[in-house]
Amino acid sequence: MTTRIRQLGTALVLALSLAGTAQAQQDEPKTPLGKKMAAMNTALKAVGRQIEDPSKNASTLEQIAIIETNAKASLTLEPEKKEKIPAGEQAKFVGGYQAEMKKLIATVDKLKAAVKAGNNADAVKIVDEMKAAQRDGHREYRLRKAGAPPA
Ligand code: HEM
Repeated sequence: MTTRIRQLGTALVLALSLAGTAQAQQDEPKTPLGKKMAAMNTALKAVGRQIEDPSKNASTLEQIAIIETNAKASLTLEPEKKEKIPAGEQAKFVGGYQAEMKKLIATVDKLKAAVKAGNNADAVKIVDEMKAAQRDGHREYRLRKAGAPPA
């Protein structure tokens, strides 16, 4: 019994400390690029919730426009990870980042066309492509902070 209570206590302490780490990361001031990303994230979540529903396409297109604006603005900014890269490799790093961001913008265009055409089945697949682009982009270009969850 005592062991059980001790185990529960340990689990609780662990859960609270993990929640604290997540909170601290959210509270960190965002970089200019981080702000654009956060806006894309909110819009992408809204898109994900309703992409299957053709009756919501007008509102979905509004959210896609938010993603597009912020993805285009992201193209003009540079990841903070650049500072951690040796000077001689920074141009290549930024070029790679821009190429990935352009691919994302092309995918957003494709999504817009599918939703406009009322092709929601295709649109669902394109949203998955965007999530994959997000994962890949973060793996390569986002600075890993201590204790941060992967991508
Ligand atoms: C729709 C797709 C994407 C979404 C929803 C998204 C979302 C996010 C979010 C929520 C953050 C954290 C912002 C913060 O709180 O500071 C972030 C950061 C970041 N993302 Fe994305 N992301 C996407 C695509 C990409 C792509 C394709 C790339 C690279 C080509 C990328 C590169 C980065 C970088 C570099 C950061 C760190 C910010 C900085 O270095 O200043 N993201 N993203």
